[in-house]
Amino acid sequence: MSAKAEVFVAGLDELAAGERRIIVAEDKSIGVFNTGSRIVAVLNICPHAFAPVCLGKLGGTTLPSKPGQFIWGQENEILRCPWHGWEFDLHSGECLTDRRRLKRFPVVIRDDRIYVEV
Ligand code: FES
Repeated sequence: MSAKAEVFVAGLDELAAGERRIIVAEDKSIGVFNTGSRIVAVLNICPHAFAPVCLGKLGGTTLPSKPGQFIWGQENEILRCPWHGWEFDLHSGECLTDRRRLKRFPVVIRDDRIYVEV
């Protein structure tokens, strides 16, 4: 097993909430997102049918609530696959409607710079 490479992504001030960068590292396409509360990195392959999921729309979702209530939340944390619309929680990698999940990579913030471990 080889050691993980630490790949520079951007300065922390270059990735505002709701923004993303797609990088290629170690022959992998990886999306790096600022959800507003975290920086997360996921493999740019949808576990459903292998679409470039990181090109999808970023948004939120409805939260658990009482009947008749409609509460919106998790803005910038839900990634919608551009091919068939499956939605993924970027913080957990979990699909909202299926057991499959996104592959995540560790993110390191050092000296106001974002790195991904690949
Ligand atoms: S390939 Fe992503 S939902 Fe089908």
